[in-house]
Amino acid sequence: MILVIGGAGYIGSHLVKELVVSKKVIVLDNLSTGHLSAIDNRAVFVEGDLGDRKFLDEIFTQYPIDAVMHFAANSLVGESVIDPCKYYQNNVASTLTLLEVMLKHNVKKFIFSSTAATYGIPNVHIINEDTITNPINPYGQSKLMIEKILADFSKAYNLEYVIFRYFNAAGAFESAEIGEKHYPETHLIPLVLQHLLGKREQIAIFGSDYDTPDGTCIRDYIHVTDLARAHILGLEALLDNKVSTETYNLGNGLGFSVKEVIETCEKVTGIKANIALSDRRDGDPARLVASSEKVFNQLGWKAKYQLEDIIKSAWKWHEDEKF
Ligand code: UFG
Repeated sequence: MILVIGGAGYIGSHLVKELVVSKKVIVLDNLSTGHLSAIDNRAVFVEGDLGDRKFLDEIFTQYPIDAVMHFAANSLVGESVIDPCKYYQNNVASTLTLLEVMLKHNVKKFIFSSTAATYGIPNVHIINEDTITNPINPYGQSKLMIEKILADFSKAYNLEYVIFRYFNAAGAFESAEIGEKHYPETHLIPLVLQHLLGKREQIAIFGSDYDTPDGTCIRDYIHVTDLARAHILGLEALLDNKVSTETYNLGNGLGFSVKEVIETCEKVTGIKANIALSDRRDGDPARLVASSEKVFNQLGWKAKYQLEDIIKSAWKWHEDEKF
């Protein structure tokens, strides 16, 4: 049985939809940011908190867990600067409790959601896994701390893990039964689409004087279903003992500027956006684009969806949000 922590959240719920096809799944989520209705009903659901040692102990005693996939985290860069304690508590301390309980129950296979924010402001055009990590905010720090803890735990306790560093997750499940829904929403693609649906008056571009061809920030957008598929390949490789301590970037290898994303949203929807040029947002690197060569070479994973497909699937979801 596979324990998916944060399986009610955006990326976790998309993973669960794919994973229930081949595995028995138990979802643990405290529903602080996730949605009950996003959890596939083929999975067992337990509501509770990651930092609750007694509760975790009961779950590991009750269910025969082979591996843990950990998606639960606070993930807003801006909020992490204002309230770092929340990020170190939830993302680091609670994860440490989870790892301790896993080891106590001899569960030693772990998939961890990390982030491009671990790289900070990279000095290369295309980021690979050897690019120096130097986070510039507590969110990125909190994820990198767990990455380091995992490396130490693997040496000391034989914990085996796969770390995925996501670039910009976007899009929705093909059927549009689940999709991206954050409160508050801060991500570019949902904000543009909500604006085009008339739910927001305009879309602000945060900074148009970056050192990029059109002056706006460049990001690597990756479909959430592509992310989910990578996790399943990572899990299978861990369970089959083909990998033991690997870190992979997950991106498309293609960068799109904020302006290009807005233009693609206009093209997909046929609606013109009302754009406001605004100041830079603190902590935004000019360009974050991944090399995903390593995950292709080792796990055979490649992104299937490109920006237009991503936006089409997100649009289908936002037009008729189910939760
Ligand atoms: N942006 C705007 N206007 C908006 C919202 C966003 O111009 O209304 C811009 C941002 O400034 C940024 C780009 O659009 O340049 C993408 O912003 P998102 O908020 O969609 O995504 P981020 O790149 O900031 O964040 C993502 C993940 C984080 C992760 C980070 C790694 O959501 O969890 O990548 O840098 F930490």
